[in-house]
Amino acid sequence: MEVRPVEITPGTWPGDLMAVAVFENDLSPVERLEQGCGQKLKALAEKRAYRGKAGEVLLLPVPGETTLALVGLGKRGDGELQQETIRQAAGEVIRAAIRDRATCVSFLMPEKPGAVLSKAAAEGAILAGYVFDKYQARAEDDPPRFEVETFLLGNGDEAGLRTGAILGEAQNYARDLANEPGNVINPESLAESARKVAEQAGLECTVFDDEAIRQMGMEALWSVGKGSKNKPRLIHLAWKPKAGGSERIALVGKGLTFDSGGLNIKTGDFMRTMKGDKSGACAVLAAMSAVSALELPLEVHGLIGAAENMPGGDSYRPDDILRAKNGKTIEIDNTDAEGRLTLADVLCYASDLEPSVILDIATLTGSCHIALGDYAAGLFSPDDGIVSELMEASRISGERLWPFPMDDERLRRKLKSDVADLVNAGNRYGGAIFAAMFLQEFVKKGIPWAHVDMAGTDNSKEEYGYVPKGFTGFGTRTFLEFLLRRAGRMGS
Ligand code: BES
Ligand code: MN
Ligand code: ZN
Repeated sequence: MEVRPVEITPGTWPGDLMAVAVFENDLSPVERLEQGCGQKLKALAEKRAYRGKAGEVLLLPVPGETTLALVGLGKRGDGELQQETIRQAAGEVIRAAIRDRATCVSFLMPEKPGAVLSKAAAEGAILAGYVFDKYQARAEDDPPRFEVETFLLGNGDEAGLRTGAILGEAQNYARDLANEPGNVINPESLAESARKVAEQAGLECTVFDDEAIRQMGMEALWSVGKGSKNKPRLIHLAWKPKAGGSERIALVGKGLTFDSGGLNIKTGDFMRTMKGDKSGACAVLAAMSAVSALELPLEVHGLIGAAENMPGGDSYRPDDILRAKNGKTIEIDNTDAEGRLTLADVLCYASDLEPSVILDIATLTGSCHIALGDYAAGLFSPDDGIVSELMEASRISGERLWPFPMDDERLRRKLKSDVADLVNAGNRYGGAIFAAMFLQEFVKKGIPWAHVDMAGTDNSKEEYGYVPKGFTGFGTRTFLEFLLRRAGRMGS
């Protein structure tokens, strides 16, 4: 989808569908349009009991080739218009355009959008236009597949739209990758995708195979992957701006291309959707695909521990004792608590780069999903500064995060094993915090770190706003907003 600004004056009706955003109970922007078409639009909308509630869409015929769509923004708050409000509205407009088969869509906001609201509109449009249907045949009498080709933002900001397009496309790439099944994406083909991203975006890319992983002392990552024919990979992408980066940041993603549970095999219902256990890796890879286009003046490293957790004659077992890269030993209580093992070694590797901050993202625990539901991810960090930076990035991106406590020393004691330094599972209650505390053992002391558990938000069973059914690409934009702010870019 192409996004561009367009000049809109009274009487101009660009696009096959012209959307006008209105606040709840304020149809004055519609009234203003009446001069252009000589039709009582406001009266028509009122007759249909249209209120402008958040996400409420009404299509009205107007003279000529265009259809008019009203899209509600909800109540006008006291503060400034939020990016997420515009993102959702733009998303609803695109969904209406798809239903109405409008190829060119224009969008007029109640006030002239600056850079950040232009960015949000572009994101909402591009994200809502996403479909994953490459494996579906179309019957001959089906209408041809439909796509909105152009999104025109009324009096929009060119640079803001461009940034939004980069962020939106990046997240759609994460969705594409996450939606691919385990018979297509395995650790090696995920590495191949990373190589392609690196080539397109001008990044450095190093891939370590299972032998190299073992030789580097990463027995935890190696063991999780060894039960599968598709051996594990460590993927390292790096963006190094020519002028040097003001700081070095490491992003780490859990890349389980399929999680069967291993010998502690999952039952059928819980195994479904486990192709998406690489969603953290997809978010990291997608964020890396955007850092060069955004010309971020930061050195950014993207690290992915890729493995397939399978049962078999070579699988790692409950009771096994593994040694991670930092020398700590881990007793295996449950082979289905594999994400924390892969991340343990990658966090050690990330620590060795001596970054000024490490952020990791993972579909780590069912416990987090139970705690927060389908629409928010857990945020875990002993560092309050990073927590507030990420909460701000999350407010901007509209990807909800919620912080968990990390200061329960009694809970932390449950990490201790009778036979090793640590045990990977065994404590049911507070499972998401337990997992985060386990990860913390592998981050070098003094390096600010935060962990995002996106187990609940990796896929959506319903379609709404700019979220499609299936895998969501969650986390991509929150990480990019974090980086943009670290680089001193973008306002509220
Ligand atoms: N990948 C799962 C977590 C998950 C669950 C992600 C649901 C997305 C949706 C993870 O590897 C896992 O199996 N965790 C176990 C840990 C337990 C064995 C300690 C869990 O949460 O049940
Ligand atoms: Mn698991
Ligand atoms: Zn998993």
